[in-house]
Amino acid sequence: MKNLIQIIKDSEANKVAVGHFNISDLAGLNGIFQAARELDVPVIIGTSEGEAGFIGRKQAVALVKSLREEYDYPIFINSDHTKSFEEVKVAVEAGYDAILFDGGKLPFEENLEKTKEVVRYVKSKDASILVEGELGYIGSSSRILSELPEGAAIKKEDLTKPEQAERFVKETGVDLLAPAVGNIHGMFKGANNPDLDIERIAALRKASGVPLVLHGGSGIKEEEFTKAIEAGISIIHINTEIRAAWRQGLEDGLKAGPDEIAPYKIFPPAVAKVKEVVYNRLKLFNRLA
Ligand code: G3H
Ligand code: ZN
Repeated sequence: MKNLIQIIKDSEANKVAVGHFNISDLAGLNGIFQAARELDVPVIIGTSEGEAGFIGRKQAVALVKSLREEYDYPIFINSDHTKSFEEVKVAVEAGYDAILFDGGKLPFEENLEKTKEVVRYVKSKDASILVEGELGYIGSSSRILSELPEGAAIKKEDLTKPEQAERFVKETGVDLLAPAVGNIHGMFKGANNPDLDIERIAALRKASGVPLVLHGGSGIKEEEFTKAIEAGISIIHINTEIRAAWRQGLEDGLKAGPDEIAPYKIFPPAVAKVKEVVYNRLKLFNRLA
């Protein structure tokens, strides 16, 4: 089986993107895995610090790796938005395939220094673990939004700058870069998220020299994704859409059996709703008809 960096590089060459989806439980994981298997495409599972705290880091890794081994399937796990050095250490210890060190809210120089330290540490422990850096703040919560997240980079002058990306990647040694290109975490109800700066994506890909990761995928228009992949995005993160689908499915499951108490009879609609969202996103990201 190809390793994660090979899969990302192949995706870039084929002008497709690898889908990255967050989980909080087994219903989410099963929905995502079923969708990926049906389409026969690689997939990355993410756990934020909150999600990992709920599942357990070692447990999340064991679940994903058990699917990889049992089905000989390219499914990987990323420690998403890891904000402290201590958590990076725990994630390495737990066996994650990739780690996003999120210094996006820090001043540039501090982010660069901390990310450099993280890369040095992670690679000294296991050179095969991919390290992603974050440059630019895009909000921090996968939730339904009523306004733009405070402090998020949306205006052109606040987006990640190619010269900064070039220096950041060169000095830190990150494998992947998550920039601010008009994307935000979370999504609006009944309206799409803002459009992306496609030209900036292309300029950042060129300047940074590494594959780019698009965070905050929920709520973005389909044609924006297609243009972003064309311009240099190789991984796309989706979370809020999955959370909304999970909750809807759970409510349906509870309504369908008001007296039901067996979790395995209540949760199947949640699995199905998550699967549907992920299936449609993976189809788009992988340019499948
Ligand atoms: O890292 C997680 C993602 O960036 C998810 O963002 O909740 O807006 O889809 P989203
Ligand atoms: Zn994110």
